[in-house]
Amino acid sequence: MRPKVIVTRSMPAPVEARMEALFDAELNRLGRAFTREELVDAVTRCDALACTVTDRIDAPLLALAVPRLKLIANFGVGTDNIDLAAARAAGIAVTNTPDVLTEDTADIAMALILMASRRLGEGERMLRRGAWAGWRPDDFLGSSLAGKTLGIVGMGRIGQALARRARASGLTVRYHNRNPLPDEPAFEPDLDRLVAEADILSINAPYGPATHHLIDARCLALMKPIAILINTARGALVDQEALIAALEARTIAAAGLDVYPNEPHVDSRLIALETAVLLPHMGSATLETRVAMGNRVADNILAFAEGRELPDRVA
Ligand code: DGY
Repeated sequence: MRPKVIVTRSMPAPVEARMEALFDAELNRLGRAFTREELVDAVTRCDALACTVTDRIDAPLLALAVPRLKLIANFGVGTDNIDLAAARAAGIAVTNTPDVLTEDTADIAMALILMASRRLGEGERMLRRGAWAGWRPDDFLGSSLAGKTLGIVGMGRIGQALARRARASGLTVRYHNRNPLPDEPAFEPDLDRLVAEADILSINAPYGPATHHLIDARCLALMKPIAILINTARGALVDQEALIAALEARTIAAAGLDVYPNEPHVDSRLIALETAVLLPHMGSATLETRVAMGNRVADNILAFAEGRELPDRVA
C-alpha cells in the first residue's frame, strides 16, 4: 500500500525527498502553518497526517477525519497538540519522535542556564547598540554555576541529558519526578522543597491537564530571590502572569524561556525585561535532529503502510 500522506509544514529537504519517495505525499509549499480549514481538508483526504506542534488536532477535527485518516505521525516528542483520547476513540493511531531530540534540547536548556546566569543576552544587546565602554571590574556581574543547585522537574530523557551537562559545570543536581530513577539518587519527592532549595529550576516535564501551571504563583513565591527559572518544555507548564509578576518584582532573579503559552505570541512585558532570556522554541532546531525527527515520522508511516507495529506509538 502507498498511503496518501499530507505533511502540514515544510521540512528539511532530505525528509521531504524521502516522504515523496516512499508515499503518495502532499507537501506544504505555503511557507506557513495550515489554517483550520486547510487542516479539515487535509484530514479528510489522507491516510496519514504528518503534523507538528503548531497544528491543533482536537476532537472536532478528529471527528471529521473518520473514516479516512488512520495515522497521525507527529513531528515532535510532545503530543499535547493532539487530543489523544479522542484519537483513541476514533481509532486513529498517534506516533511521536522520541530520543532523537534529547541531546539538542538539553543543550538549549544548558544554554539558557548559561545565558540567564551570566547575563549573556544583556551583554550582547549592549555591545550591538554601541554602548560598551570597555572592561570594568564591576560590569555584568552574573552568578557562578559551580557550587549551585539545579532542580530538575521531570527527569525523563531530556532532564537526564541536562543533568549530565549541569554536573560537568559543577552544579549539584536534584530532581522531582513521578518515580525515583534507579541510577539517579538525588530524587526529591516534595516539589515545594525542590523549588525552595534550587538556585536554578529547570522544567522538563510533559504538558497535559495534570501539569497545567505546575509552576504557579505559590510555587514561584517559594523560589529564592537569586533563583533562575528555565523552561524548554511547554509554555503552559508555568503560569506566565505569575512569572512576569515575579520577574518584575524581582522576587526571582531571571528566567530563560524557549516556550510560551500562546506561541508565537510573546508577552511584551517579557520582552521588556532584561532578566528574561527569550528564545523562539529552538530546542530541537539543528539540521541533524530535524532530519532525524522527519525520518522517525517516515519510519512510523512506513510501518503503518506495511502493516507492522508502529515503533513510536503513543495512542
Ligand atoms: C517537541 O518535540 O515536542 C518540540 O517541542 C518540538 O521540537
